[in-house]
Amino acid sequence: MLQLSINDYQRIIEHGLYGKPLEICGLLVGHKSNEDTQVLEVHAVDSKDLSEKTYNMDALKYMKIDADVQKRGMQIVGIYHTHPATEPYPSPTDMERAHWEGSDDAIFPGYSYLIVSLRDPQNPEPRSFKLVGKRRPEDVIEEPVRIVEGEICNLACYESSGSALSIMTPNQLHGRDGVDERLDGSVSITDLVGNTPLIELKKLTTHLKHARVFGKAEYMNPAGSVKDRPALNMLLKGIESGELTPGKTILDSTSGNTGIAYAMIGAALGYKVKLVMPGNVSPERRAIVKMYGAETVLSSAFDGSDGAILKAREIYESEPDKYFKPDQYNNESNPEAHYLGTGPEIWRQTEGRVTHFLATLGTSGTLMGTSRFLKEVNPDIQIIAVEPDNAMHGIEGLKHMATSIKPGIYDPDIADEHLYADTDDAYNMQARLAEEEGIFVGFSAGAAVHTAIQVAERLDALEQEAVVVTILCDRGDRYLTQLAQMNL
Ligand SMILES: Cc1ncc(COP(=O)(O)O)c(C=O)c1O
Repeated sequence: MLQLSINDYQRIIEHGLYGKPLEICGLLVGHKSNEDTQVLEVHAVDSKDLSEKTYNMDALKYMKIDADVQKRGMQIVGIYHTHPATEPYPSPTDMERAHWEGSDDAIFPGYSYLIVSLRDPQNPEPRSFKLVGKRRPEDVIEEPVRIVEGEICNLACYESSGSALSIMTPNQLHGRDGVDERLDGSVSITDLVGNTPLIELKKLTTHLKHARVFGKAEYMNPAGSVKDRPALNMLLKGIESGELTPGKTILDSTSGNTGIAYAMIGAALGYKVKLVMPGNVSPERRAIVKMYGAETVLSSAFDGSDGAILKAREIYESEPDKYFKPDQYNNESNPEAHYLGTGPEIWRQTEGRVTHFLATLGTSGTLMGTSRFLKEVNPDIQIIAVEPDNAMHGIEGLKHMATSIKPGIYDPDIADEHLYADTDDAYNMQARLAEEEGIFVGFSAGAAVHTAIQVAERLDALEQEAVVVTILCDRGDRYLTQLAQMNL
């Protein structure tokens, strides 16, 4: 018999749902005797091949987990795998794998092989197989699976070892993702984009009894903001499609964070970067992109991000062959990065308990992609779009849509609700986040958290058990000059 807790079982299901259409798998950890296997932990190990057809366990991750659990007095007792929706269940391939997983010469001798069919996600079906003799079909026996009540894990302490990004890393793109090359454990800087923590804002919400507020720590991406994700996806997609070839210069208009991300990734991948920024962009941002070796062109401060968009267009049209222009406002690879990364991560980190997702609007990529994923896995999740309440606001990175060029990727209808943030409220909350939570982030995060708490207060008054998730877009040290001018 294979026994596991309802929590671990749910994690496997969520991992499978989030992994679609890619196959997923992971390790079962615990204790086993001849008869029974007791699972105490599950560890996600995504396929190292990003293909829907081939499947390979990441051997390096396996070894790391094996060493770690042995130190803690447990062992790897099997693997789990979710079953693609369309195949019969168990399929001949499943049975073949069960021999292989159990074979003496394989890396999983005598382990249980738990497969969970997700043909009907509302009614998943678990079955486990074990090799009891030689490596012959008749030696594979099905063992009963028992799912027991387990302690309910606190959202904030939930940790998954699953790799959340489905976008390709440069190593994967260039076919250099072999285990041999990674045995030293090294990664490239672009491999660190995504998989950001989810932080509960406990101090700011002590007055709430039912609703909880979480911030996705996007400021912990390697170039310091949420924009690392779309920038990487747009550039990799450009390389993949043949539009971004060696020798071309990456050109785009940016209020700063996307520019910093392009500059970091351009440096890492070996491309020149030229950025058009509004003249009022913070000196820190200009200094950072310069450090990464990018060139900046300033457009009029008075014309804001729209002025930068028009200027970048003009430069591109004067020499189109010289540049690769990702055009973050109209490029579907921008929201796609969030559909593939941010959305699944939030779903996984909240164990599917997110009830409200709220994001501020710049290009709208974060809101579009994340919401599309969340609505797909649970249409009841409420989506809230937040923009500044007037055209002359002071929240860098955000757009007042009514008076701006509407991004091509923006669909206002995806949001169930539109809310408007006041600049002073955003500034106050930015300061409170640093002082009360120890989270030093930018003003758009202030706007997002201020509004998220307002939403949570409204739900709390109705005694609703809500889990409100928002985005902490970028790091506060990007605004030090502005903060000094404000005499803070
Ligand atoms: C600080 C900051 N906050 C929020 C956003 C909005 O993100 P998005 O472009 O995905 O709407 C941006 C975008 O540039 C930003 O720089």
